[in-house]
Amino acid sequence: MFTILVYKSRVQIDMSASDVYQLVKAAAVKNANRDISGVLLFDGDYFLQYLEGPDGEIRDLYNSISMDSRHRKIVKLMEDQSPTRRFGVWYMHAIDVNTLHGDDLNEILSQGASFQPVNLGLPSHDRVLKMITAFASASWTDNDSHFEPENWEFQIKPSQFNAVVNTKNAAPCQFAFQPILNPISGEVSSIEALIRSQSGGPPSDCFKGLSPEDLYLFDLESKQYAFELASQMNLGKCKLSVNLLPMSLVRIPNAVERLLSYITDVGLVPQQVIVEITEEESITNFEDFQSALKSLRSAGISVAIDDFGAGFAGLTLLSRFQPEKLKIDRQIIDGVHYDGPKQAIVKAIIECAHSLGITIIAEGVETVEEWCWLQSVGVDLFQGYLFARPKLNGTPDIQWPVLKQV
Ligand SMILES: Cc1cc2nc3c(=O)[nH]c(=O)nc-3n(C[C@H](O)[C@H](O)[C@H](O)COP(=O)(O)O)c2cc1C
Repeated sequence: MFTILVYKSRVQIDMSASDVYQLVKAAAVKNANRDISGVLLFDGDYFLQYLEGPDGEIRDLYNSISMDSRHRKIVKLMEDQSPTRRFGVWYMHAIDVNTLHGDDLNEILSQGASFQPVNLGLPSHDRVLKMITAFASASWTDNDSHFEPENWEFQIKPSQFNAVVNTKNAAPCQFAFQPILNPISGEVSSIEALIRSQSGGPPSDCFKGLSPEDLYLFDLESKQYAFELASQMNLGKCKLSVNLLPMSLVRIPNAVERLLSYITDVGLVPQQVIVEITEEESITNFEDFQSALKSLRSAGISVAIDDFGAGFAGLTLLSRFQPEKLKIDRQIIDGVHYDGPKQAIVKAIIECAHSLGITIIAEGVETVEEWCWLQSVGVDLFQGYLFARPKLNGTPDIQWPVLKQV
């Protein structure tokens, strides 16, 4: 069994075709010792490399290649297992796609596959061959070179919101607040209220030991403290986001009316509030859920789908209900700048959401590399440690990206 790996990368320094052939000549000698075979395609700006061989050797080599300063923006497109090699006759073979004509590529690839004990030809639905063909036929470009991590530095700017807030009543929980922002326009779009236990512990501490019905009631009633705190923040045009389990809207009688009275009791208006539907559980009665959503919308409250792409918050929900905002789950965001499958998923979500007029939020953004990639493909709003950590009973300072002066 072999491990197979495909990545793409961007040529870092001016490398001529002969430089690449030199690199591949040296690589082939080393690969022979490691039992690795494959192809390296290049078009002057980008590389696409396919590697096949023993698992440990492929991992070691990919680590070295990832750290090689002759290229950058290395994105792994595929890692899989295969019973046979595709290009066993080559320890590494270079293909300059600028020199290809007509059926050249197929002929070259067939030659590479010609060692196979039973020559089955090139399978037409082979993912590796499809990636190679796509690279050879299209020019791959980056979206916007302006969003290069090295061009940006971060500066803390004074917050426009009140930094410390308090509840008048003894609350059974606390809230930490984290901004959701547009780093380019410098606007804070909303502030999310994240529930914490009375001692500031994680959300799970608040819900521990509650029966399902008590949990829905607590989920709903706890929001009054979030609204009370937010009413002291000087929100202005910025909105407050609160999380709600979908079944809290269904199971608690008059849930929407209760939510509205919590909002108006502290002097906020429904238009200042976004309800983020955290779909951790399946929605058992969609008709009732949909009618609760209608009441929220008709009262002026915005709705967002939270954790999109995780658990139940997926395409079926989106096909039945289109929110104003959609938050891509943090697990998809984590390491998106070097992960090909995640990149393909994020681009597809953005295209789908934008065609429906839905604003996309990336949550859990922690590195400048993640932000730059997400910004360049059109994510609208951002939330994460890179910009601000949640602050208990107050609004945190925000680190804004600023273009470095050259
Ligand atoms: C696009 C690209 C492809 C590479 N492919 C290989 C390869 O297939 N095999 C290899 O040994 N080194 C390859 N290298 C070089 C490695 O990054 C690294 O320089 C080399 O493995 C270091 O070998 P050493 O530790 O023996 O000096 C490649 C480098 C680049 C930029």
